[in-house]
Amino acid sequence: MIKIEHLKKEYPNVTPLKDVSVEIHDGDVISVIGPSGTGKSTLLRCINQMEKPTSGHVWVDGVDITDKKCNINKVRQKMGMVFQSFNLFGHLTVIENIMLSPMDLLGKSKQEAYDEGMRLLRMVGLAEKALNYPDELSGGQKQRIAIARTLAMDPDVILLDEPTSALDPTMVGEVQAVIRELAKTGKTMMIVTHEMNFARAISNRVFYMDEGGIYEDGTPEQIFEHPQRENTRRFIQKLKVLELNIESRDYDFLGMAGQIDAYCNKSQIPPKLANRIQLAFEETMQLLLPRLDSPRIQAVCEYSEAEESAEWTIRYGGPRLDATADGDDLALAVLGGMTQAMDYAWQESEEMPNQMRLKLSAEANRHLK
Ligand SMILES: Nc1ncnc2c1ncn2[C@@H]1O[C@H](COP(=O)(O)OP(=O)(O)OP(=O)(O)O)[C@@H](O)[C@H]1O
Ligand SMILES: [Mg+2]
Repeated sequence: MIKIEHLKKEYPNVTPLKDVSVEIHDGDVISVIGPSGTGKSTLLRCINQMEKPTSGHVWVDGVDITDKKCNINKVRQKMGMVFQSFNLFGHLTVIENIMLSPMDLLGKSKQEAYDEGMRLLRMVGLAEKALNYPDELSGGQKQRIAIARTLAMDPDVILLDEPTSALDPTMVGEVQAVIRELAKTGKTMMIVTHEMNFARAISNRVFYMDEGGIYEDGTPEQIFEHPQRENTRRFIQKLKVLELNIESRDYDFLGMAGQIDAYCNKSQIPPKLANRIQLAFEETMQLLLPRLDSPRIQAVCEYSEAEESAEWTIRYGGPRLDATADGDDLALAVLGGMTQAMDYAWQESEEMPNQMRLKLSAEANRHLK
């Protein structure tokens, strides 16, 4: 079992891991997903101590491997790592690549290392390439060799950092098939991947990384179908998000219109929907601003490319005020004509307890009452 306690990794300009605590159980197959730069690779590298954490501890089967006295080479033998870029030795044949570490580090005889190496090559479907050099193989084959080489050390844990992202799309499947088989053997695995279907199919647990740590930890079903937290949901549904904050009646409405415009362009939102996003915002402000004593409004637009729809969530402070029920009739009529749904909720505990939601699409409108 791996136990991570208050792990922190700081670089001069960023702190990808702020305070990570988690337990990884024997046999867990964990997919690590999340936006670029959120510390997925850093987490893997801190687990096998390729990277020295700034603070915190990593315990492996009760041994603190972050302790200076710990023999890190021994630990690494138990934790194999597979990289995006294979890292095979070009001057050695395939079978020599695989035999090297078991002979050097585990003291295996040449015959033992060879027999085991051939068994693993058969497992990854490449026994006939034993005497070839890495340069003579395709990317997918090289990565399968790299996996076989990792397995030759008989590690308890295998860490894979985007093992298929450097591959030509036609070769992704063969490497995924090997990893999928491996996942069934009960080995503890952690895989950083951007391929969501694959993550879903092989793992019993998913870490969504964001905001300096493991932002959400759950089963594939939870993370992919019922994410509990906002950033996870946005990532999974590939939502494009814009946030605007208004703190005065005299807000810079032209500047904000420009921001909305830029967001729509950048997210490639179809023009008709983009117009509605713009108009819905303006009308909502018309509705709200005259009725709030000291306006404090947060407006968040989420665009779902998959559904070609957008949703404004407008939160505002002050006493309970359902602006969808009564307000400027004209603004309400315009909003009603262009939204698919519009609702209001009051959430006492929030800093801005009033919440309006407007669903927009480029298609059919809700009928005016
Ligand atoms: N050796 C380093 N020195 C300085 N900064 C680093 C170093 N390694 C990583 N970083 C920074 O730490 C942050 C996290 O990097 P990391 O590679 O762990 O992200 P990631 O989640 O794996 O991203 P990706 O999906 O792009 O691979 C990034 O901002 C990165 O620039
Ligand atoms: Mg990475």
